[in-house]
Amino acid sequence: MSMEVYKIRVLLHYLVLCIAITTCHALAADNDELYIVFMRDRLATESLTVDSHLKVLSSLKGSEHIASKSLVYSYTQSFNAFAAKLSSDEAKMMSDKDEVLLVFPNQYRKLHTTKSWEFIGLRPQSKRNLKVESDIIVGLLDTGITPQSESFNDKGLGPPPAKWKGTCGRYANFSGCNNKLIGARYFKLDRLSDPNDILSPIDTDGHGTHTSSTLAGSLIPNANLNGLAKGTARGAVPSARVAMYKVCWASTGCADMDILAAFDAAISDGVDIISISIGGLTGNYTSDSIAIGAFHAMRKGILTVASAGNDGPYRGSVVNHAPWILTVAASGIDRQLRSKVELGNGEIVSGIGVNTFEPKKKLYPLTSGIDVAKNSDTKEASRYCIENSMDPTKVQGKLIYCKLGSWGIDSVVRGLGGIGTVIESESFLDAAQIFMAPATMVNGTIGEKINNYMHSTKSASAVIHKTEEVKIEAPFVASFSSRGPNPGSKHVLKPDITAPGIDILASYTPLKSLTGLKGDTQYSNFTFMSGTSMACPHVGGVAAYVKSFHPTWSPAAIKSAIMTTAKGMQPKVNRDKEFAYGSGQLNPTKAIKPGLIYDIDDMSYIQFLCREGYKGSAIGTLLGQGPINCSKLLPAKSEDAINYPTMQLALKRNQETTIGVFRRTVTNVGPRISVYNATIKAPKGVQITVKPMSLSFSKPLQKRSFTVVVKAKLKANVLIKSGLLIWRCGNYTVRSPIVVYDPLFDQFEGTHLL
Ligand SMILES: *[C@@H]1O[C@H](CO)[C@@H](O)[C@H](O)[C@H]1NC(C)=O
Ligand SMILES: *[C@@H]1O[C@H](CO)[C@@H](O)[C@H](O)[C@H]1NC(C)=O
Ligand SMILES: *[C@@H]1O[C@H](CO)[C@@H](O)[C@H](O)[C@H]1NC(C)=O
Ligand SMILES: *[C@@H]1O[C@H](CO)[C@@H](O)[C@H](O)[C@H]1NC(C)=O
Repeated sequence: MSMEVYKIRVLLHYLVLCIAITTCHALAADNDELYIVFMRDRLATESLTVDSHLKVLSSLKGSEHIASKSLVYSYTQSFNAFAAKLSSDEAKMMSDKDEVLLVFPNQYRKLHTTKSWEFIGLRPQSKRNLKVESDIIVGLLDTGITPQSESFNDKGLGPPPAKWKGTCGRYANFSGCNNKLIGARYFKLDRLSDPNDILSPIDTDGHGTHTSSTLAGSLIPNANLNGLAKGTARGAVPSARVAMYKVCWASTGCADMDILAAFDAAISDGVDIISISIGGLTGNYTSDSIAIGAFHAMRKGILTVASAGNDGPYRGSVVNHAPWILTVAASGIDRQLRSKVELGNGEIVSGIGVNTFEPKKKLYPLTSGIDVAKNSDTKEASRYCIENSMDPTKVQGKLIYCKLGSWGIDSVVRGLGGIGTVIESESFLDAAQIFMAPATMVNGTIGEKINNYMHSTKSASAVIHKTEEVKIEAPFVASFSSRGPNPGSKHVLKPDITAPGIDILASYTPLKSLTGLKGDTQYSNFTFMSGTSMACPHVGGVAAYVKSFHPTWSPAAIKSAIMTTAKGMQPKVNRDKEFAYGSGQLNPTKAIKPGLIYDIDDMSYIQFLCREGYKGSAIGTLLGQGPINCSKLLPAKSEDAINYPTMQLALKRNQETTIGVFRRTVTNVGPRISVYNATIKAPKGVQITVKPMSLSFSKPLQKRSFTVVVKAKLKANVLIKSGLLIWRCGNYTVRSPIVVYDPLFDQFEGTHLL
């Protein structure tokens, strides 16, 4: 897992070559015998709750003995549920029982630096509320942590805040906690089949160490990877405390039942913010372990921040899209890691990637993979520099040019005595891959140039230089960042926010080489990773930062502050617009002074779910109580039945003009006496009106309501149109994108589906 999530996806794109690579199967691991069962009753005491789980299982299994053997987890802290081994018939019978609300199968998910903080304006000298910050506890569900990492040194920190109820066990390979890393546990009740899986919170992958140091790492001067990206590494809230809940494993990925157990623990331990860079499945909100866990967290005042996924640029690929989750897309910062490739004819082209090797000679012979094939049968494979396809005598001492088919071909070429590899690829060019032998990656245009040069001479030569930092235009949404529209609801725009997630430098584990690939001998305390996994802790950190100024704010208030203060992104460079970047780029120093907030209480979410057509029994799962009677709730008067900081209108096919009426209420958290005026930006063909156009406040926390009416006509070949509502008062700007989209737009054809 780890950023390899992003890499594994690459492999899946080259299915032909996939068979050779074992990791392809890792994500398909499935165990259809494990189910999660949500009970109808509220929680009693812990022992009574476990007893009731055993009782309902016994009634199915015939004996308490068999029942207790099949019980895998009892969730007893925050919600009344258990995980157990069941046959599909038993699962069906279980769901028919009166005392049971919902049964769903356990599934496996996958995991989805310091310059990045400066880039978005959170500088070491930025205002901080240190006293409160050190009382903030951030919980991460991830691959574990590296306790000896400098990022988690506890210099200057006193004992954990009194509210902390969590634990930090001592395990093999885990040296324990301190006043910075105050909690560390692991959750795994499934088979262990990978030598990298150590039953301890230790991070053998690097992903969890990376995300937690990005979120809340202490300051470390001179962080770098072989001299690249040198600077002070730090998290958003360097004084906050960290609690790690390890739920992702090399053998299985991240199991729903472990994720639920970790949420259950984190909520009762007393964390303030949960950051989870895991995804991979999308479903409805009541059978998605992350949505359920986050809902329970929200009800205890804890905001869950989650990654949007790395399945972009495909539309509708966003995951973790429940309205009570803050869903994070990934963007690039203004630094790229590039290597110059000098050709024998003097021409210099540019490739991307981390190549830490300095060439020894001025030029080396250059040849194409096809021309060094073992024999005519391996020509197709040698075009991709696949293992066993090339003739070592022809590779020796040369630079080889090949197409990207799988990761690690730089090492294959090196292993045959080659000098280096120039890899051509049409995609995956916005994030730097780390190479374990001299290599760089170029796009098709440059590939053609190199090919032309090779064909123009009998003795082509080239050299790959060590990687340098290059300044580029930013921000832009990463190509891999998952896109809307939200597959879970037509009424909620997702993702919510964008944050840096390309080439992020943060702490790493000493237990894994930089690439994790066979033969790599590069190790470092810091490394670059890319993914929405890396963007997520940036937002988690800013959520903690906002909370350090406003400890009493609800999760929805913190989320609203982060969204309405985001910086607008360029629709020109991000053609999916808000479906790529949500409300825009994270803007930490503004997020602590939002002026107004769109708050949402628990009942509003229930009303929203009823309106979305969820069954009362399924909603009960989220509340940890019996079925909800949706018909008893007041009818929602708004298009979306929720006080969301953004607005999304799905065009209706059977109507000439679709009209959406959005009702919103804002709460004054800015100056006591203030007047906010509305500015509306409506795209061509869309009419947006706001009533009233001015909101006056005379005291703190005063609420004011307004109505937004959006009228739009369906237009061929348009997926999304962007409008905007901004409330302004002095320096305060409260920004809400309003999008209109065609839910039947066919992403492949660019037309409407009928
Ligand atoms: C890496 O971190 C460990 C533990 O903090 C430290 O002992 C070691 O000196 C570091 N290595 C380098 C090269 O800085
Ligand atoms: C973990 O601890 C065991 C027992 O002390 C040891 O044999 C093993 O090498 C350790 N593994 C790692 C990755 O440190
Ligand atoms: C290929 O890469 C070069 C160098 O980064 C860049 O200037 C060029 O625009 C790229 N071409 C395409 C089609 O992406
Ligand atoms: C959500 O999924 C569960 C389990 O698969 C199902 O029982 C329920 O009907 C679904 N609800 C909605 C609104 O789709």
